[in-house]
Amino acid sequence: MSLLVIGGTGTLGRQIVLQALTKGYQVRCLVRNFRKASFLKEWGAELVYGDLTKPETIPPCLKGITAIIDASTSRANELESLKKVDWEGKLCLIEASKVANIQRFIFFSAQNVEEFNNIPLMKVKNGMEIKLKESNIPYTIFRLSGFYQGLIEQYAIPILENLPIWVTNENTDISYMDTQDIAKFCLRSLQITQTKNQTFFLSGSKNWVSSEIINLCEQLAGQRAKVQRVPLFILKLVSRFFGFFEWGQNISDRLAFAEILTTGNTFSNSTSDLYKMFKIDPSELIQLDDYFLEYFIRLLKRLRDINFEDVQKQKNLVI
Ligand SMILES: NC(=O)c1ccc[n+]([C@@H]2O[C@H](COP(=O)([O-])OP(=O)(O)OC[C@H]3O[C@@H](n4cnc5c(N)ncnc54)[C@H](OP(=O)(O)O)[C@@H]3O)[C@@H](O)[C@H]2O)c1
Repeated sequence: MSLLVIGGTGTLGRQIVLQALTKGYQVRCLVRNFRKASFLKEWGAELVYGDLTKPETIPPCLKGITAIIDASTSRANELESLKKVDWEGKLCLIEASKVANIQRFIFFSAQNVEEFNNIPLMKVKNGMEIKLKESNIPYTIFRLSGFYQGLIEQYAIPILENLPIWVTNENTDISYMDTQDIAKFCLRSLQITQTKNQTFFLSGSKNWVSSEIINLCEQLAGQRAKVQRVPLFILKLVSRFFGFFEWGQNISDRLAFAEILTTGNTFSNSTSDLYKMFKIDPSELIQLDDYFLEYFIRLLKRLRDINFEDVQKQKNLVI
């Protein structure tokens, strides 16, 4: 089976590429910048030039491909790209996939998308789910919540840099996941026929409220966090204010994403069935405590190395 991964340079996409190569799949990555994607080539993937905002570049990338794993999304710093990448680009991708007779199309959506049609990113995710189902291309949709990787920026770095952490006053628990585990589910779905034409809500084995994550980071960093609570209604107002301006659409979306995550999910009851279907034992999954522990150990080692290098440099100066 030959795979085309779109978004291979991204947080989730790179884990998919790595695991797919390890499992012996032939992996092609559609990338828009070969230099940025060179690490994927070093791992053994084939790189082809493609850009979802340039429809003519898409069909050639699909030649000889059996399954597409689309882990792309518009970058937050690229204003106005949401419509071009996540909607228009992906519609072209679906059309090209029909022509290329793609046998499986894996798409990553977000939880509760149908409830948030007022949020552009959620509206296009919902729209894409519908278009994919209508396309007759065999599909698997994974609705995701938050990634562990995003929590570093949200919690760990502000604590280490003594900056405020912004949290809402809602105490909703969220089942974050490591992207390595999401990649595992994604690739496993290619081997399980029952996952064809199905939508899954992927959730981790433990739910976390923000105060627990903050406590964990405080213990590991040995530093107190500066926590700023912002009521959800203020967040909604800010989000609406930014939403008035086209340039603010991305900011508005990202703020509103916090609201989606605080809404809770309606699929939790089916989690154990999901693990059974994918033959994945929840105890195999990477736990947030271990993820953070590894991050802090690596960071503290790096800081020690930098200090050592500085001392060595100073010694050399003295000599
Ligand atoms: N992050 C979350 O918490 C979260 C939650 C729910 C769902 N999801 C979904 O999960 C998927 C993966 O998210 P992520 O956070 O891993 O994404 P990410 O790190 O932001 O990576 C985005 C990827 O899309 C590529 N891309 C952007 N514009 C492109 C274009 N015009 N043509 C081709 N490729 C383009 C980027 O390539 P460059 O490197 O060239 O920019 C990059 O590889 C997405 O579908 C996202 O919506 C994420």
